[in-house]
Amino acid sequence: MHSELLIVENDRKTRDLVSAFLTYQGYSTTVLGERDDIFDTIGSRLHRIVIADLQTLLARTPDMLTKAWESSPDLVVIAYDQPDTARNLPHNERLLLIPKPLNLDELESVVMRAREYQALQASSGEPSTSEEFPHFLCSTIIGRSRTMLTLFEMLEKVAESNATVLIQGESGTGKELAARAIHQLSSRSNKNFVPVNCAAIPDELLESELFGHVKGAFTGAYANRPGRFDLADKGTLFLDEIGDMKANLQVKLLRVLQTKEFEPVGSARSQKVDTRIIAATNSNLEELVATKDFREDLYYRLSVIPITIPPLRERREDIPLLINHFLGRFNHDKRRLVKGFSREALEILRNYDWPGNVRELENLVERMVTLKENGFITPDDLPERYQPGSKPLPRSASAAPAPVTVQTEELPADGICLNSAVDAFENRLILQALQRTGGNKKEAASLLNLKRTTLIEKLKKKNLQLEP
Ligand SMILES: Nc1ncnc2c1ncn2[C@@H]1O[C@H](COP(=O)(O)OP(=O)(O)OP(=O)(O)O)[C@@H](O)[C@H]1O
Ligand SMILES: [Mg+2]
Repeated sequence: MHSELLIVENDRKTRDLVSAFLTYQGYSTTVLGERDDIFDTIGSRLHRIVIADLQTLLARTPDMLTKAWESSPDLVVIAYDQPDTARNLPHNERLLLIPKPLNLDELESVVMRAREYQALQASSGEPSTSEEFPHFLCSTIIGRSRTMLTLFEMLEKVAESNATVLIQGESGTGKELAARAIHQLSSRSNKNFVPVNCAAIPDELLESELFGHVKGAFTGAYANRPGRFDLADKGTLFLDEIGDMKANLQVKLLRVLQTKEFEPVGSARSQKVDTRIIAATNSNLEELVATKDFREDLYYRLSVIPITIPPLRERREDIPLLINHFLGRFNHDKRRLVKGFSREALEILRNYDWPGNVRELENLVERMVTLKENGFITPDDLPERYQPGSKPLPRSASAAPAPVTVQTEELPADGICLNSAVDAFENRLILQALQRTGGNKKEAASLLNLKRTTLIEKLKKKNLQLEP
């Protein structure tokens, strides 16, 4: 019978579980016990993905597997792996290993990888090469460039320790994803990962947000309230946009890092805390240290392990993979059938500079999938800024802001609600700025000549989001 997935498994319970799970996820499946003729079935080209135990596959001659791959150019085999058995197997980019005991979430992400690989082959129309194969970390971070693979290794290694990590990189490069991956891979993963955006919380509230407060600490403090440090006890606290933290709080944070103790606002009693700290910033902290905007001692405490995520334009090999990944996701979420980007469109995007990095690419694919609905996306479908020869947008926040154009507005005869008119005008400009920068808040703020923190606050207050 024709189906997308063939599941080979002797144990009926596991077989039923895997089949029920994947069927529920929307895949068509066929199940098979471990029989002598499994390679005939695999070679039948009726199934594009085979899930089987590695032992079972290796018990037959390894040639069989190679032959099956030869006869079905896009066949991907997912094999449950006992540690060490895979070591002697000839490397093949169409063999994906999944550790035993089986974890269904992991299985789903591996099946998605297999499909992405196949989609990539189909859209590129090129023969399969291991070069094109995506690598994942924690089923969320994708990359195959050397720098990303090194980053994956680094994140895995770092996760084992409790050391403070400082993640730097341009906006949209995946700093938060990396922080979450470290937490997920660490022994703290069953406790909280608590993100705090130091730029989005007004300075006067940040201290109580971090450390909590006691009843009566300030007007409006009607009861004791725990802070994010409490929430992150035994877990991980992610201090995002750390470069925006004000001097007085920097001192307090330094103290927690040194003593592992803090006092809630309004309390004289210290509290012990066991939190791993990961900080991130897209400003250059060393420069802030040089200009005395960031404490040098805190900088050294935070950057015990410094990690830098390279901008997308320095790892262009990742672009087609990311495009395919987001294409799959948005096709699924929006019930669209966009097949891919045409060769020419892909070429344009490969050569584009991506000032908003992966976030910009994600937003572009979402917009394209929403508008296009099906077929291939061609260069004509791409927004103007992606057209070759169009002027690239400024990458740095210090780039000159666009001049203000005064819009003339006619006052209607029966008057107008000034507040809502101004509000709507403001919203339009903010959304335009975000659109133009692919959702990059730092650049959008610079286009509007606003502080980034002010823009972030406005977005929150107005509940504004960039529509794809
Ligand atoms: N390697 C990657 N694979 C898949 N998705 C990615 C990758 N890198 C970034 N993304 C996606 O891009 C978006 C931006 O990532 P993230 O929020 O981690 O960036 P950031 O560096 O924290 O940005 P900012 O400095 O603006 O806060 C997210 O939606 C994230 O899922
Ligand atoms: Mg971030």
